[in-house]
Amino acid sequence: MVRMTRTLYLFGSAAPPVFDVARVIEAAQRRGWEVCLGLTPTAADWLEDSLPELEALTGHPVRSRYKRPGEPDVWPKADVVLVAPATFNTINAWALGLTDRFVVGVVAEGIGKGIPIVAMPCVNAAYVRHRAFERSVAELRAMDVTVLYGEGGFVPNQPGQGRPSDYPWSVALDAVSGTIGK
Ligand SMILES: Cc1cc2nc3c(=O)[nH]c(=O)nc-3n(C[C@H](O)[C@H](O)[C@H](O)COP(=O)(O)O)c2cc1C
Repeated sequence: MVRMTRTLYLFGSAAPPVFDVARVIEAAQRRGWEVCLGLTPTAADWLEDSLPELEALTGHPVRSRYKRPGEPDVWPKADVVLVAPATFNTINAWALGLTDRFVVGVVAEGIGKGIPIVAMPCVNAAYVRHRAFERSVAELRAMDVTVLYGEGGFVPNQPGQGRPSDYPWSVALDAVSGTIGK
């Protein structure tokens, strides 16, 4: 059977732009994506009160934990994954292959499965001075992850001066669309 819609896994970690995720889901749906929302446990905690609405909006359970062995997969297969906002912690854990978080596990494995993956960090200028960050971005890019960091993507703000409304979600959604047909 031919699948008419394409599935986007939208994975958010615990940085303030994650509070805009409902608007981003709607924007992705307008672009024709079926969206499944995954969150790190901290991001799920931040959004706890909105989870029922987000499940209704996507039509899928919001996932932040691994299923138990033997439990069925509740999501359709991903055509593309967008990891945004991606925290310092999530970027570093992913590059190192530390998969105790469900969403990091999916994208760590997703690299090996050849699923197109786009990531947009959300980190301040102090975090990026830690040498692990540039190393992690380079590692992910070397594994064919599209990391929207720097000119044309996310540019770090000074600590405490980040404005979640400036987070360039449309750049991320454009990059997701750009993976189709590659
Ligand atoms: C109000 C607030 C804002 C935060 N903003 C960021 C951020 O923009 N980027 C970042 O890397 N971490 C930020 N953090 C720290 C992360 O939430 C924290 O490192 C968390 O453990 C990340 O876990 P996760 O990657 O599993 O979501 C923020 C924390 C708080 C409380």
